[in-house]
Amino acid sequence: MGLKLNIATLLVLLIFTTSAANAQPTVFNVVKKYGGKVNEDITLPLTNAWKDACATQGGSKVVVPAGTYRLGPVQLNGPCKSPIELKVRGTLQAPGDLSFFKWGSWVSFLRVDQLTLSGNGTFDGQGKSVWGKYGGALPIFHLHVFACKNVTLLHLNIRAPGDSPNTDGIHMGRSTRIRIIDSKIGTGDDCISLGDGNQDILIQKVTCGPGHGISIGSLGRYENEEPVVGVKVLDCKLRNTMNGVRIKTWPASLSGIASDMHFENIYMKNVSNPIIIDQVYCPWNQCKAQIPSKIKISKVSFKNIRGTSQTKEAVKLLCSKAIPCENVEISDIDLAYQGSDGPATSQCTNVNPTILGRQNPPACTLK
Ligand SMILES: *[C@@H]1O[C@H](CO)[C@@H](O)[C@H](O)[C@H]1NC(C)=O
Ligand SMILES: *[C@@H]1O[C@H](CO)[C@@H](O)[C@H](O)[C@H]1NC(C)=O
Ligand SMILES: *[C@@H]1O[C@H](CO)[C@@H](O)[C@H](O)[C@H]1NC(C)=O
Repeated sequence: MGLKLNIATLLVLLIFTTSAANAQPTVFNVVKKYGGKVNEDITLPLTNAWKDACATQGGSKVVVPAGTYRLGPVQLNGPCKSPIELKVRGTLQAPGDLSFFKWGSWVSFLRVDQLTLSGNGTFDGQGKSVWGKYGGALPIFHLHVFACKNVTLLHLNIRAPGDSPNTDGIHMGRSTRIRIIDSKIGTGDDCISLGDGNQDILIQKVTCGPGHGISIGSLGRYENEEPVVGVKVLDCKLRNTMNGVRIKTWPASLSGIASDMHFENIYMKNVSNPIIIDQVYCPWNQCKAQIPSKIKISKVSFKNIRGTSQTKEAVKLLCSKAIPCENVEISDIDLAYQGSDGPATSQCTNVNPTILGRQNPPACTLK
């Protein structure tokens, strides 16, 4: 990912919540009450329905019925008077013209407590019409969870082509208690990426591919980064991705912490770099690679990870020369190199992992 990110084709099925829905919410139908029409722009009807719903006591529900609608950038802001739900049954199409985007996102929810976004609808970012045309403020990521607490993302389906630029599936930052469960994500960039300041994160039963895999970091590039503590990635599948599960930090970084990160029961197929800790992450030589990272990585486990690797180096634990990784465990690894020029290898630098169970490739064959 970079700073220039793009609108992508986004398909969201049945989303999420922070609260249980109220028994009898007041309904605000964008078509029936607010003049929205199929095949027309519903930016204003939706904005008005949201405002009324947000000001309502005792629970409210904004409904976008089945049908296709155009939708410009909207900010659906709180605080609201009571729990609020947005139910989308239709398809919402973003403008194909970047000049519409005066701020960084297409549909944003700000300062809303007890929000539920639900429905079988589609958010269609119309990414194809803008890929390659950079400039101005662009919407970032498919789904950006920033400074949120207690969010569950359930049954999401995010789709963008494997060659689409900067289309992270879900990026989260500075958030606590986030669950991503039972979802499918195919993109041209990270499937899920976690920036600094995330705590108590669970990613479970997520299928990724194509894309760049599940990534913690990159960390250590900016000042005032907060620790990443408590990440579990369980029961996931990755297919045809550029990385599997990865933790990456920049060399020459400021001090920081990434701790208590666990990857368990993961199936990989045709994945390059299936398991990787990369503390020498320095793409396009944008850093002083010879100065070691000062991010301290500790309490990491990779357990029961199996499948096939597209590259020979199936396991790479490249820790910082200044601050070696601590309490790293690898157990029950079975990753076969699918090429024919020899078996898979495993590399360990500045780390002395605890090794348990089956090890294919043999643990730490390269130092
Ligand atoms: C998180 O949200 C759920 C509802 O989705 C609620 O039951 C629970 O109490 C919340 N937890 C915290 C710590 O706020
Ligand atoms: C959602 O389901 C309804 C029927 O319940 C259907 O009419 C509508 O087309 C569906 N929406 C999408 C985007 O598939
Ligand atoms: C393996 O994954 C790469 C992308 O990393 C893809 O281009 C290639 O087609 C995949 N191979 C198979 C056999 O699916």
